[in-house]
Amino acid sequence: MANIATLNLDGKEIPLPVIVGSEGEKAIDINKLRGDTGYITYDDGFGNTGSCLSKITFIDGEVGILRYRGYPIEQLAEKSNFIETSLLVMNGELPTPDQRSAFSALLTKHAPLRQDLMRFIESFPTGAHPMAILSATMNALGAYHPHLASNNHQADLQHFDEAAAIAISKVRTIAACSYRASRGLPFNHPNPKLGYCENFLHMMFSDPYADFVPTPEVASALNLFLLLHADHEQNCSTSTVRMVASAGANVFASVSAGVNALWGPLHGGANMAVIEMLKNIHADRDDGTRFIAAAKSGKGDRLMGFGHRVYKNYDPRAKIIKASFYKALASLGIKDDPLLNIAMKLEECALNDDYFVQRKLYPNVDFYSGLIMRALGIPENMFTVMFALGRMPGWIAQWREVAANSKLKIYRPRQVYVGEPMRNFVPANLRK
Ligand code: CMC
Repeated sequence: MANIATLNLDGKEIPLPVIVGSEGEKAIDINKLRGDTGYITYDDGFGNTGSCLSKITFIDGEVGILRYRGYPIEQLAEKSNFIETSLLVMNGELPTPDQRSAFSALLTKHAPLRQDLMRFIESFPTGAHPMAILSATMNALGAYHPHLASNNHQADLQHFDEAAAIAISKVRTIAACSYRASRGLPFNHPNPKLGYCENFLHMMFSDPYADFVPTPEVASALNLFLLLHADHEQNCSTSTVRMVASAGANVFASVSAGVNALWGPLHGGANMAVIEMLKNIHADRDDGTRFIAAAKSGKGDRLMGFGHRVYKNYDPRAKIIKASFYKALASLGIKDDPLLNIAMKLEECALNDDYFVQRKLYPNVDFYSGLIMRALGIPENMFTVMFALGRMPGWIAQWREVAANSKLKIYRPRQVYVGEPMRNFVPANLRK
């Protein structure tokens, strides 16, 4: 196979190295193109740009493959759990039992928030969006742990395990507190006896007179939801984390930037959009038939939770989460929910409709995760926060990969300037 591509430019042949990834993905290395020729490449939205070499996650969207560190998502979903998978994603290998218990001990140690950090969260106005609280508080963690956030990658990497445990443990406490703050409710302290997901649900929903105890199916659905979101290679928030990290920023500042990117409705908001769509269909007294017809005609809204930029086959995460969703519903005794009935009708219609089949529009993970969140009683403005909880180990792993790169260059894309050419300043009295 040729390992050189040739670009014919201004009558000259420019050799460009071809890089082949471990799964056979091919890329043309244009690192020296500008220096050699003065040309840059143009790729609006980076859809065709490999921004880095990464060892963390492999996706083949045509076939519907997702692997963390080489392990298929199906195997991890069946045999692992969120915390073990987080360690895999962040460290590159599945943890030994000793590594696993050491990390659990760190998670327990770091679960509570300091009183002043809780006051910081309380200082947000009631009704503040939990994503605003989450990103601000994740960033503030750097101020509370300056020895882990020196903005010197080599120094920060020395304390990686502690910083990772703080981020993964505290993001859960901060998320629960942000929900309670946004409702004006008192905070619940973490319970060291509970597992990661049970503890989160306790901090969200317990009240002084009754501990919230989820069914095992609900805890397991949440675990799976988080595991399935642990990483997804170079999406918008992950690229943001890497961009910020490339400037030398510490892990807390970098993941906080990731939270902000995720907040955007085009990225982390799709699961919420699914529920909004179902509510609108219900309010219109439609069973989904009219909505689908309008979506197909191009005059109506798109079917939220269907289609994916990368997966042109069934989103592998959607298949896994669907089964767990039904188990959680059964354990909660939810049978005849109007929004659920509409969702099932939409799914059935789309899977059997030529329009969707020809365009390879299958349900994506957000279709079911929105429904799961709703069944768990998680309010819609917390859906993106839940996504951030799951994505935290991925962001941390990506930060680590950037920070540990001995040949790191600050990320600095170029542009093609299409504004005004050079012109002379116009005095105020002559401006039209
Ligand atoms: N409903 C109806 N038609 C659709 C949909 C949809 N959900 N998605 C794409 N199409 C049509 C689109 O109108 C176009 O038709 P035509 O060829 O006749 O013009 C064709 O399918 C291709 O559309 P596209 O926009 O070029 O496809 P894309 O791969 O760029 O878009 C997408 C991917 C996810 C933005 C899109 O499918 C969509 O808007 N889906 C709904 C929103 C959603 O569920 N987003 C969550 C994605 S998963 C997020 C994550 O993993 O982080």
